[in-house]
Amino acid sequence: MTILYLDHAATTRVSDPVRAAMAAALDADFGNPSSRHPLGAAAGEALEAARRTVARAVGADAAGVVFTSGGTEANNLALFGLTPKAASGRGADVLVGPTEHPSVRVPAEDLAGIGLDVRTLALDASGGLDLVAAADAIDTSTALVAQMLVNNEFGTHYDVARLARAVRARGGEATHLHVDAVQALGKLPLDMGSLFDGLCGSLALSGHKVHGPKGVGALVLSRAALAKGRLPRPMIRGGGQQSDLRPGTENVPGILGFARAVELAAEGVAGARAATLAARIAFEEALAASPLAALGARVLVPWSDDGRQAPHVLSLLVPGAPSEVWLHHLEERSVYASAGSACQAKKKDLSPALLALGLHADEARRVLRFSFSAETTPAECRAAIDALAAVAQSLAHL
Ligand SMILES: Cc1ncc(COP(=O)(O)O)c(C=O)c1O
Repeated sequence: MTILYLDHAATTRVSDPVRAAMAAALDADFGNPSSRHPLGAAAGEALEAARRTVARAVGADAAGVVFTSGGTEANNLALFGLTPKAASGRGADVLVGPTEHPSVRVPAEDLAGIGLDVRTLALDASGGLDLVAAADAIDTSTALVAQMLVNNEFGTHYDVARLARAVRARGGEATHLHVDAVQALGKLPLDMGSLFDGLCGSLALSGHKVHGPKGVGALVLSRAALAKGRLPRPMIRGGGQQSDLRPGTENVPGILGFARAVELAAEGVAGARAATLAARIAFEEALAASPLAALGARVLVPWSDDGRQAPHVLSLLVPGAPSEVWLHHLEERSVYASAGSACQAKKKDLSPALLALGLHADEARRVLRFSFSAETTPAECRAAIDALAAVAQSLAHL
């Protein structure tokens, strides 16, 4: 049976151009970028070209690109590296978004554990960021504001540009805005120049969500962060690579594959949006026309064209059985999706992002996530709804 892979927010297939870029680095260009001989120099040059490619794709300077082991490490580096070791005692030290990925949320909890004043931003009634409350919470003593751009569970596109304006108006010279852009890369145009414009800021990126390799990503610092020397304290100590911000022999094949994936993702934003939007609309239309709707299944944040959503990821509240049971039955029909986010699926606890959206615990246990890429077709989405409708006959009334 053909596999219906509708879990692209968890990970994506490595594309052919990315595989080719990696193969070249694994094979001919195997030097250590820190070695002085020609093989090392060639690897070093390839690495710096990759840095420039990533910078160009997001409107940053190459000097601001710190390659990491992925989105999780990029978020950790920002959260732990750009916050003080002790509370200022004058107000919120750290503000974090209400629906952040665990790689932001858990470090923020750790920072609260060592005594920093860490506060969580709120959602407004329409599911967007409460920007009035956010602006009230920011002051000159705030070291870091961390807010994702696109949510990984239900696809909300938060108005981070307005949050940046609030940080500029209310924060201090060194207040830093960190944006987890892992789910936004390749889905929205990213331009750090206009987003941060004079503001200390950073983006977290990850390769494997955009047809690149797993285990590689970047923290990209804004021009103002570089100019003001507002750089993260390194979490790893070693031999000085990457200006000592993230030492260790660089993962050259991974980084070259990542850079190619980022470049293609940035070039392909319009195409990816058109394709994922067609898939999304087909999914929602098929859902509305199926018996599932009458059984109570509903998309948590249905598609609307007001710029407040990214089309490629949606959460579906299903009736009856918990999500694991639905996923198991779908798997038997070769439909692959996930429960909440992939990282959450292994844990027993409920997604704080779904709870922030206003779901009751009983509902948060019955949420399936479907996510699309430019490769997903409307026909696949209709087939997934057919499979859901078929399994609903036994699961909806459990
Ligand atoms: C919004 C968001 N941030 C961060 C991450 C973590 O990225 P990585 O898997 O590269 O560590 C993910 C991955 O699920 C994500 O969706």
